[in-house]
Amino acid sequence: MSKISIIGTGNMARTIGARAMAGGNTVEIMGRDQSKAAGLAKALGDGATTGEWGTTPAGDLVIVALLYNGVVPAVAHYGDALAGKVIVDISNPFNSTFDGLAHGEETSIAQEVAKVAPAGARVVKAFNTVFRHVLEKGRPDVFIAGDDAEAKASVEAFIESLGLRPLDVGGLKMAHWLEGAGVVTVGLANHGVGNVDFALSITELPV
Ligand SMILES: NC(=O)c1ccc[n+]([C@@H]2O[C@H](COP(=O)([O-])OP(=O)(O)OC[C@H]3O[C@@H](n4cnc5c(N)ncnc54)[C@H](OP(=O)(O)O)[C@@H]3O)[C@@H](O)[C@H]2O)c1
Repeated sequence: MSKISIIGTGNMARTIGARAMAGGNTVEIMGRDQSKAAGLAKALGDGATTGEWGTTPAGDLVIVALLYNGVVPAVAHYGDALAGKVIVDISNPFNSTFDGLAHGEETSIAQEVAKVAPAGARVVKAFNTVFRHVLEKGRPDVFIAGDDAEAKASVEAFIESLGLRPLDVGGLKMAHWLEGAGVVTVGLANHGVGNVDFALSITELPV
C-alpha cells in the first residue's frame, strides 16, 4: 500500500485516484480550486482526503495530474513542500496539431520538473501513454522513466497495486521519448487504429 497525493482534480486525477483506492492505497487530492478537490475526494469515497494547494502533501508519491503547461509552475510553487517526495509527471505536452511536442528541444516536462523540484525530490514519468478510459477499464502496460532506482521501485509498486504491469524504459531523459510515445498513441488513434480504445503494450516472445 502506498500513500498517494494527487495534485489535480480533472479526469486523470479521478481515474488514478479511483484505481489507487481500489488497490488499497490512501489518496489525498489537492487542487488549485479547493472546492473541486473536496468534491473529488468526496466522490472517491471513504478514506480519500483533501489537502491544501501548495502545502506539504501527505503522500510519499505525488502524482501531478495537471495540463502540461501547469506542471512545472505548480511544482515550483510547491517548492520545498515536495522535498523528499517522489513526483510523478503524467503529462503529454502535445503541440496544437497533436502531431508533435509542444517543446522543441530534446527535453520533457518531467526533466523540466526535475530542474525546479527541491533537493531530495525524485521525478518519475509514468502513465502518459495510456488513455484515461483505458486506464479506468483496462489492464494497460504502464511505461515509466526516472533516474532514481528507489523512486522507480516505489512507483512500480504503486502501479502493481492497480493490477497493472510497470515497464521501466530507463533514465529520466527517456521521458522525452515517452512523451513522443504519447504523440504516437494519438497518431494511432487518428490513423491506424482509428479509435481510442487501445494502449501501447509490449509483447515478448516465449523463452
Ligand atoms: N485524459 C487522458 O486520457 C490522459 C492520458 C494520459 C495523460 N494525460 C495527461 O494528464 C494530465 C491531466 O489530464 P486530464 O485529462 O486529467 O485533464 P483535465 O480533466 O482537463 O484536468 C486538468 C487539471 O489541470 C488543472 N490545471 C489546468 N491548468 C492548470 C494550471 N495552469 N495550473 C494549475 N492547475 C491547472 C485543472 O484545474 P482546474 O479545474 O482548476 O482548471 C484540472 O485539475 C495532462 O497533462 C494530460 O496530458 C491525460
